Amino acid sequence: MEQLRIQIEQYEKEIENAIVSTKDELEAFRIKYLGTKGLVKSIMGEMKNVPADQKKMAGFMLNEFKISVENKFEELKSAVGEDSGEIIGTVDYSLPGDDLPLGTRHPISIVQNKIMSIFQTLGFAVAEGPEIEDDWHNFSALNLPENHPARDMQDTFYLNEDPAWLLRTHTSSVQIREMQKGKLPLRIICPGRVYRNETISARAHCFFNQVEGLYIAENVSFADLKQTLYFFVQEMFGQDVKVRFRPSYFPFTEPSAEMDISCLICGGSGCNVCKKTGWVEILGSGMVHPKVLENCGIDSNKYTGFAFGMGVERITMLKYDVKDLRLFSENDIRFLNQFKAAY
Ligand code: PHE
Repeated sequence: MEQLRIQIEQYEKEIENAIVSTKDELEAFRIKYLGTKGLVKSIMGEMKNVPADQKKMAGFMLNEFKISVENKFEELKSAVGEDSGEIIGTVDYSLPGDDLPLGTRHPISIVQNKIMSIFQTLGFAVAEGPEIEDDWHNFSALNLPENHPARDMQDTFYLNEDPAWLLRTHTSSVQIREMQKGKLPLRIICPGRVYRNETISARAHCFFNQVEGLYIAENVSFADLKQTLYFFVQEMFGQDVKVRFRPSYFPFTEPSAEMDISCLICGGSGCNVCKKTGWVEILGSGMVHPKVLENCGIDSNKYTGFAFGMGVERITMLKYDVKDLRLFSENDIRFLNQFKAAY
């Protein structure tokens, strides 16, 4: 690995100093470095000799190298003037430019930003972590016993190359990473994409976005949890929305509760969205299980905390009356353009 790094550094110097003045020389550069038998290809082949625990770093390094060679090539190309010699015609430079259609922010980003800003006003900081996780951060540390169904292959995507690694199924793994840092009190929200091996339908996808939250300090109570989430709902959906908590179960919280809000579509009288109940579930929550605190080296006699987690797609569907979750990842411009006015 170290040898590879030194090698790459040498090549980088060589490439940085490369100059070409004709198209033939440019082509020679391309063949030497970017061709099918070129240096970039052959050095990429070194990946297989890198030990598994260093693969991630090596992959990153090689990729950076490839990008820098490609950039250099583009730079040389424009220096040589690929198009020179070709008479294009007369251009009237005083003409106004063509309009470039302006993109819009994605509805998921709009709602995620809104969720984050609500919690930021309460003093929550944003924490992020890796999407590829190990079993301990995603499951064990969160008190998920070995035989818990969430560990089944059906729910979790494991990496083929090394099943000790998986795509995180929730951003609770980020909370573990933050707790391990040992800086208390801790007040964070963890936005990010998560993955579950589910059949894709109007209501479920194999990837989606979450915002999870965590507050740990001395004397944090369930009342704090309720008040925080109540504040969130009012800011997000308006003052008239009603809230209810239902007892639930998560291995990492005790007690646990799911929170419902009164259905925004029918106002509580009953419709298809709320399955005629007048209520829709929007998040899971609870008091952090003492075992989880201890797993992260936090004294559970001194500290308590609450945690919650919500799906951004679900909240967005409710807020904008979107009936099919697949629309969020299809990137149909006709769908996305409808959110122009939303931010
Ligand atoms: N991690 C849970 C999930 O992804 C959500 C949750 C977070 C529930 C925190 C309770 C407390 O479903």
